[in-house]
Amino acid sequence: MPMPTILIDAPTIHERIRAMAAEIEREYPSGDEIHLVAVLKGGFMFLADLVRGMSADVTMDFMALSSYGKGTTSSGQVRVLKDLDSSLESRHVIIVEDIVDTGLTLHYLQDILRARAPKSLRTACLLSKPSRRQVDVHVDYIGFTIEDRFVVGYGLDYAEKYRNLPYIAVLEGE
Ligand code: IMP
Repeated sequence: MPMPTILIDAPTIHERIRAMAAEIEREYPSGDEIHLVAVLKGGFMFLADLVRGMSADVTMDFMALSSYGKGTTSSGQVRVLKDLDSSLESRHVIIVEDIVDTGLTLHYLQDILRARAPKSLRTACLLSKPSRRQVDVHVDYIGFTIEDRFVVGYGLDYAEKYRNLPYIAVLEGE
């Protein structure tokens, strides 16, 4: 198995996520509830740290979409594998995603969630690889912008492995 090399270490990630949580809270009227929709599986660790940095009333739900499977390139095909448990109508919704790469997944997700009539819809991504973008997709909060490298850790996988790493890494030999 290829060896992971640290690209963004754990303290840097935590500091950035704390700042993102504070920025998000500042931008919503105080007293308003914020509903976070995390995309499984990659978004679970980002969500867990993001919500721990927030003191507003927060609710959360999870959605699973088809992803790359075992490869590292986008198929461009997106399917809902697990839908949300509750309605988004009249709620402040934030999509919580691990990474925006080609943008195809997020573009699709934003379209289907917007159709569910939320009061507002924003997107928070831990990572962005702008050089890979195939569709113009708007992301309100970006943790880190990275180059076109395949990364793992902090929720992100390669063939379902490495999600548990507490840092973002690139795979040597990749
Ligand atoms: P997109 O549709 O090309 O933007 O891809 C989004 C999804 O692909 C992400 O939610 C990840 O699950 C996966 N992905 C994209 N780039 C990487 C990477 O560098 N490492 C691990 N997964 C990735």
